[in-house]
Amino acid sequence: MEKNKWFQKSVVYQIYPRSFMDSNGDGIGDLNGITTRLDYLAELGVDVIWLSPIYKSPNDDNGYDISDYQNIMNEFGSMEDFDKLLDAAHSRGLKIVMDLVVNHTSDEHAWFVESKSSKNNPKRDWYIWRDAPKDGGVPTEAISCFSGTVWEWDEVTKQYYLHIFSKKQPDLNWDNPEVRKTVFDLMDWWCAKGIDGFRMDVISMISKAPEYYLPLSEGGCYNPTNGPHVHEYIQEMNREVLSRYDLMTVGETPGVTVEEAKKYAGADGKELNMVFQFELTDLDCNETGKWNTNRAHLTDIKRVLSKWQHGLYGTAWNSLFWDNHDQPRCVSRFGNDSTPQLREASAKMLAVCLHMLQGTPYIYQGEELGMTNYPFTALSECRDIEALNAYREYVEEKKCFTHDEMIKNIRKASRDNARTPMQWDDTINGGFSVGDPWIPVNPNYTEINASAQVSDPNSVFSFYKALIRLRHEMPIITDGEYTLLDPESEEHFCYTRQNKDTKLIILCNFSDKVIECPYTKEIEGGELVICNYEAPNSEKAPMRAYEARVYKI
Ligand code: GLC
Ligand code: CA
Repeated sequence: MEKNKWFQKSVVYQIYPRSFMDSNGDGIGDLNGITTRLDYLAELGVDVIWLSPIYKSPNDDNGYDISDYQNIMNEFGSMEDFDKLLDAAHSRGLKIVMDLVVNHTSDEHAWFVESKSSKNNPKRDWYIWRDAPKDGGVPTEAISCFSGTVWEWDEVTKQYYLHIFSKKQPDLNWDNPEVRKTVFDLMDWWCAKGIDGFRMDVISMISKAPEYYLPLSEGGCYNPTNGPHVHEYIQEMNREVLSRYDLMTVGETPGVTVEEAKKYAGADGKELNMVFQFELTDLDCNETGKWNTNRAHLTDIKRVLSKWQHGLYGTAWNSLFWDNHDQPRCVSRFGNDSTPQLREASAKMLAVCLHMLQGTPYIYQGEELGMTNYPFTALSECRDIEALNAYREYVEEKKCFTHDEMIKNIRKASRDNARTPMQWDDTINGGFSVGDPWIPVNPNYTEINASAQVSDPNSVFSFYKALIRLRHEMPIITDGEYTLLDPESEEHFCYTRQNKDTKLIILCNFSDKVIECPYTKEIEGGELVICNYEAPNSEKAPMRAYEARVYKI
């Protein structure tokens, strides 16, 4: 593949190291654990592994609060273990993309410790400090992504510092050139080690608009994304680091619009390869954010995905995902996990629907097994700071929900749903750990696990494997133009892909009912490329619950 273009043909697998595989029985996944499971990923056929953060961290936000960017978290192992993992991955043809979390650091990072030590410290300006307003209160009304104000008071130097996430995640001041230079240097250090790219955490937030620092009464705003210098800083990063290596880069960009994405992920290669947009996963949000039991409408899902397919076609590049470590499990959320049959069918159907689109697909660990949400019944089963803070806010402070209602919301929306351990086999703790796992294992591991699926040709795993192979074999999946059919249907999601040689028709029944096959004329005489059930007797055969078919015309 041409330098810097392999990302368009790749399928990425996301590993959340804490929950993937524990090699030493302390109940926490680790690097050596990942190394022992590389053959599984090679068997699946993915091209790239994205590792959620493995750097030193006090784990206020499970590694997204970094206290040393050039060392490995104690619980995960050593730099030697990392080097072994990287070599072992490369020897299997697997690339490794690191999570780069540089909008903020941990408050335990040496830079912040210095910054905090006095107003005259040379690193004071590396973070964002503000005086208390004369009439008291916090500098602005901006709200943290993890509940409450973004401002934390420092008693020693008598100023507030800004933290968009937890108070243990102070935001770096990217307007300071020394900060940028230091970040670029540490990125360069990792690149020189031979890593294959970066997934950039909330990179759309590194430049805040001046209004962000004003009280609402003075024209302030809540929005920390897509600020005035963000593209300038990413272009600088590209010039200084990215362009000098053969990397894959993906920006996590909350608040991104199609227009902004064309800049972040433009085909001109000045910034990043692609971005994650959250319009799809935000569809079920309301005034209490994700904390509700809503389900997105299929027509909205189609509208959003289609907008991005058209919007970036030929000018930028999409990343495709149903879930990740911040989202509930996709089969529970967009499919149906109420019976084993429906779960399997809907997991496969969702995979077809996503993997036939244009963009780079991301598989979140366990998705390829159809792993489900966790049946939370108590707050003591939750680990995530976001859910724990939200519980305090919505149940204890604002009294928006009763305890039972909030547990239901958590069951539907909590990030912990994605973070329960990977289900390897039906032995204790799903084969994840012989110790006591840091977070409960989903009790359905006896039924849903890798060992049962790898050798079963009809499993969700084997189906993902087939889809990945198709992407590698059929150029149209990478380059074909997308057209949505019937935007109004709440039952099926059908679309076509077309290039100069061929056309694909993708039919997905999103309902638990048997439906008439739509587009029988269009698929007549076509070749069935893949189907998540036994092949239908004829093209006209009705579509079974959650059936998905792809025809080549
Ligand atoms: C991103 C990460 C999320 C983390 C947050 C703060 O959204 O994906 O897990 O909590 O940034 O770093
Ligand atoms: Ca361990």
